[in-house]
Amino acid sequence: MAIPTLTTDRLILRPWRDSDLDALAAYEADRVAMQYIGDGSVYGPEHAAATMAGYRAEWERCGHGRWAVELSASPGLAGSCGFVRWHQGQPDERPELAYGYRREHWGNGIATEAARVALEWAFGSLSFDEVVALTHPENAASQRVLAKLGFVAAGTAEGRAGTMSFFTLSRACFEESGLG
Ligand SMILES: CC(C)(COP(=O)(O)OP(=O)(O)OC[C@H]1O[C@@H](n2cnc3c(N)ncnc32)[C@H](O)[C@@H]1OP(=O)(O)O)[C@@H](O)C(=O)NCCC(=O)NCCS
Repeated sequence: MAIPTLTTDRLILRPWRDSDLDALAAYEADRVAMQYIGDGSVYGPEHAAATMAGYRAEWERCGHGRWAVELSASPGLAGSCGFVRWHQGQPDERPELAYGYRREHWGNGIATEAARVALEWAFGSLSFDEVVALTHPENAASQRVLAKLGFVAAGTAEGRAGTMSFFTLSRACFEESGLG
């Protein structure tokens, strides 16, 4: 499907552009940014094209996926946010919220602001009543983002690189929280 464009006061969530490749490669090469992603591996510049192709394919396959996130005041890729398909044997394959930003953008509330509008879109446009999220157990910043969005801890789940902290957010909770 065509990737919709979403906006907030500060952000544009938009389709991927080939011109995002250098910034995506810089993110994937950053050991600090990648420390809690998968097994913490970093990647060379050639990997970014495959990552972007995967992000685009997710939209085609599932009707949801990750957006490229840009600051309206500072064009260029700041990071990504969106929904991937969680495949760990869940019967309903609830979408998993995922995000990551280049380090110079951390600490400004961008991850929370982007995820909030993405969740509004998901609960408005998709037929799911619940979204899940997984974090490395030590990824306190990401867990704080999830808490601000209304996610609740729901134990652990086995991820690609071991045991992950598992969180859920129901449509009802999101709407009742006044965030939706
Ligand atoms: C996790 C990440 C997305 C957060 O992005 P961000 O734009 O800085 O997030 P926000 O500013 O919206 O919120 C971060 C919150 O975590 C808090 N925080 C930051 N570092 C923290 C830490 N080490 N321990 C506890 N809280 C922390 C911030 O204070 C803020 O909370 P507050 O608003 O109550 O002050 C960003 O660090 C990132 O891209 N990391 C690399 C990729 C990644 O780990 N993705 C998540 C995979 S599950």
